[in-house]
Amino acid sequence: MNLLFETTLNKTLSEIFEKLGLDTKFATVKVSDRADLSDFQCNGALALAKTAHKNPREIAASVATELEKEPNIATVSVDGPGFINIKLKDDFIAANMDKMAQDERLGCGITENPHRVVLDYGGPNVAKEMHVGHLRSGVIGESIQRIERFVGNDVVSDVHLGDWGTPMGMILAEILRSDGTLSHVFSYNIAQITEFYKRANIRCKEDEEAKEQARKITAALQDGDEQYRAAWQHLRSESVKAIKANYAQLDVNFDLWWGESDAHQTCGEIVKIARNKEISEVDNGAEIIRLEEGNKPKPPVILIKSDGGYTYHTTDLATIKMRVDQLKAQEIVYFTDSRQALHFEQVFEGAEKLGIAPNVELKHIVFGTVNGADGKPFKTRDGGVMNLDTLIEMSKDKVRQSLPKAGEVEGYGEAEIEKLTSQIAVAAIKFQDLKNTISSGYVFELDDFAKFEGKTGPYIQYAIARINSVLRKAEANGLNVGNVKLEAPEERALALKLAQVHNVVMRAHSEKEPSIIADYTYTLAQQFSTFYNACPIMNAGDCNLAASRLRLAKLVRDVLTLMLNLLGIEAPEVMLKA
Ligand code: ARG
Repeated sequence: MNLLFETTLNKTLSEIFEKLGLDTKFATVKVSDRADLSDFQCNGALALAKTAHKNPREIAASVATELEKEPNIATVSVDGPGFINIKLKDDFIAANMDKMAQDERLGCGITENPHRVVLDYGGPNVAKEMHVGHLRSGVIGESIQRIERFVGNDVVSDVHLGDWGTPMGMILAEILRSDGTLSHVFSYNIAQITEFYKRANIRCKEDEEAKEQARKITAALQDGDEQYRAAWQHLRSESVKAIKANYAQLDVNFDLWWGESDAHQTCGEIVKIARNKEISEVDNGAEIIRLEEGNKPKPPVILIKSDGGYTYHTTDLATIKMRVDQLKAQEIVYFTDSRQALHFEQVFEGAEKLGIAPNVELKHIVFGTVNGADGKPFKTRDGGVMNLDTLIEMSKDKVRQSLPKAGEVEGYGEAEIEKLTSQIAVAAIKFQDLKNTISSGYVFELDDFAKFEGKTGPYIQYAIARINSVLRKAEANGLNVGNVKLEAPEERALALKLAQVHNVVMRAHSEKEPSIIADYTYTLAQQFSTFYNACPIMNAGDCNLAASRLRLAKLVRDVLTLMLNLLGIEAPEVMLKA
């Protein structure tokens, strides 16, 4: 498949540079900033001139002379101090569009180095309601999961449920305090369980004794006390049910529902390894691994607290060992906000010292917080944490205002409208999140991102649905897609944009940055509008031209749908407006 204009041109340039005795490191093109002048640009002559002490224009001219001999290149010019501007032949671009249309991957290649990646995202906690902080981790993780799979990696995703620390002891203690027994636990639903947790949290903040009791119960639970284990099992499974329902609404999916508790057995092994390697020491009653970094010591990894319990460090180290030994991970990627940056630095260094993940790449992707209009982390009107359910409902309410009511459009009863509402609402939430670079936070502004125009999820969904309607009309009129011919500048520009899809996906993959895909969908949708205004399809006046334009339209539809899919967003066949 010869869709990758950049790759093809880079190869051609490399050969030319080699022939001319120039350093091939500079034999690269980029998409031109001046579409009016050229399709691609090579600035290598300027960099080369510096090191070779030659005139850049002369170097550029010698390269241009060679480039002109290439059969697929229409024009080459040397501009300014030595920029090489390249324009491809229309027929060549058109032929590539035809190939792209026949390829089920739309010209997208796969990674050169397929391997097994374990993705750790979501990270919700038992008994705590999920909030917007868990939203980003889930939304970003899901998109990365899809991108990784699409480029050919073997992915295992794990929710890594927070089901094992002191909060578990705190709830059990609170229930005991209120009921005098644990026998009612089994009838409690998630709302009741969450209530107990909230109360326990307040109590333990001000009451040392309550805290101590929670610690004891946690220790007994971890040691295998049967009564506590049984009660905890119920809390856990009720929580998991609620969490699953929440993530299902957002179409965030996991292969594994392992929790911190699943790593408990392996924590002991971690301690053993540390002792055998003599890298741990006892410090104030705790067992630690000291980390230092030059003359700036880092706080140590704590394997065992002075009360005998394992820590968040130990659990994560044990989990790494399990992922490497059992899941054969070659790369493990974590998605949390910046507050856990130090934690993962410590864990990764600990893993290195323990030697539990040899040749495994460990990465922590840090995302910014979701803020309110005041620039502070997003809260509800009464100052509480906004939970995910409420957030999704709010988004749906907003979308409902723009949609017809059930029964107003033929074929759209309550169920259909509801489905469409949630597809659009989720697209609004997810696109808003993913259009920002991961590291930056953003302001949660429902009014803006549930809009049907601008850089929003619903806008892209509309663009797709509009093309669907064009395709349906064409079909009804017996018009089929045909070979691409590029005549109008808008057709050519659209084709060049379409041809970028492989590079866009590969960059989003290597930089682990879905915003690259979000940006591309937006500019492609805009470029389609420009094309469609200038180049009518049904009224093209010539049936070959109409068939060519129809093929371009269909390609845009397919590329946009694929891109939304990689972002974890559905594309409804039809969109409605009130
Ligand atoms: N449960 C944690 C939290 O809510 C996130 C877990 C992240 N993953 C990990 N392996 N530590 O903050």
